[in-house]
Amino acid sequence: MKKSLGKLLMTTLLGTALFVTGCSSSSSTSTAADADKETKELVIYSARNETFVQPLVESFEEQTGIKVRMLSGNEASVNKIIEERNNVQADIFFSNDAGAMEYLRLEGLLASNDSKALEVIDPKYRAVDGSWVGLSARTRVLMYNKDLISEEEMPKALWELTDPKWSGEFMITRGGNGSMVAHVAALRAAWGDEKTKEWIEQVRENAGAVVNGHGDIRRSVGAGEFKFGLVNNYYYHLQLNEDKDNNVGAIYPDQGSDDIGAFVNAAGVALIKDAPNTKNAKAFIDWLLEPEQQKVFAFNSMEVPLNPAVEAVGFAKKIDEYKVMDMPLQELGPVWSDVKQLIEDAGLDLNL
Ligand SMILES: [Fe+2]
Repeated sequence: MKKSLGKLLMTTLLGTALFVTGCSSSSSTSTAADADKETKELVIYSARNETFVQPLVESFEEQTGIKVRMLSGNEASVNKIIEERNNVQADIFFSNDAGAMEYLRLEGLLASNDSKALEVIDPKYRAVDGSWVGLSARTRVLMYNKDLISEEEMPKALWELTDPKWSGEFMITRGGNGSMVAHVAALRAAWGDEKTKEWIEQVRENAGAVVNGHGDIRRSVGAGEFKFGLVNNYYYHLQLNEDKDNNVGAIYPDQGSDDIGAFVNAAGVALIKDAPNTKNAKAFIDWLLEPEQQKVFAFNSMEVPLNPAVEAVGFAKKIDEYKVMDMPLQELGPVWSDVKQLIEDAGLDLNL
């Protein structure tokens, strides 16, 4: 105990000394001095699929000479960032969920960012202080098998999934899937707790299968085992791109004039507070927002860029082509942490 307190004090003193040095050197307008003490490193904690992020990371390293250390931690990244709050290791959090990023911001774990580069993204999809920014859209859609059901027959609103007529016909993921958690958080913000719980209970009851991830859903629906499933839009794009089992369509739900619109979550990047390589982290975020990188990422992952000016795969609907739930993603932050409890209480298991 004594030892760790001493160590903490030492770190704090060292931090203060560096901070004071930092202030004095920047007032002498010497950029060389800044560069000297700047490390050539960047540490990324990523909750994203490594195969999509790795190629980008490698080209950033090539272009800048900055060495990137990436730790792919899936949903555990958030907890690791919280645990390390007094001994910050990561510079960047690469996330698939705006709710998780805003939650970290509210916990005081992110640093503000006033970079102009962020302005290509709609304010609805970034933090008020720029500490996180969305890069690609993850829109919740109903992917269906065209051999089994027509577009006309498909439900057009999420509430319709509570109708017993769909009993056994569709698939959902387990409650703890990150996209499911964020989606329920959004429904909760739109509908309130009671209606959201009722929806979960009845959807759980009607679902023909509850599976681990969306990859399971797209393959089973593609193969005709179920009529439809609730997925993120890029799983539909991935299935369309398969050599077989690709006769699938997608309904963007709740599109009527009185309807709430489809829920769009954002995958993006967050700047961690008190990080060891903040300057490199900011450079990385600016670089990621450039159209070239956005295009590469969109074609690798089949996600849809939140910057509508960036080209996406041909069959992907652009973000401005459908009605989106009228809720800034920042609102997911406050409800993010206890939404899992609500899901469990409504009877949908978090894990299988
Ligand atoms: Fe995914």
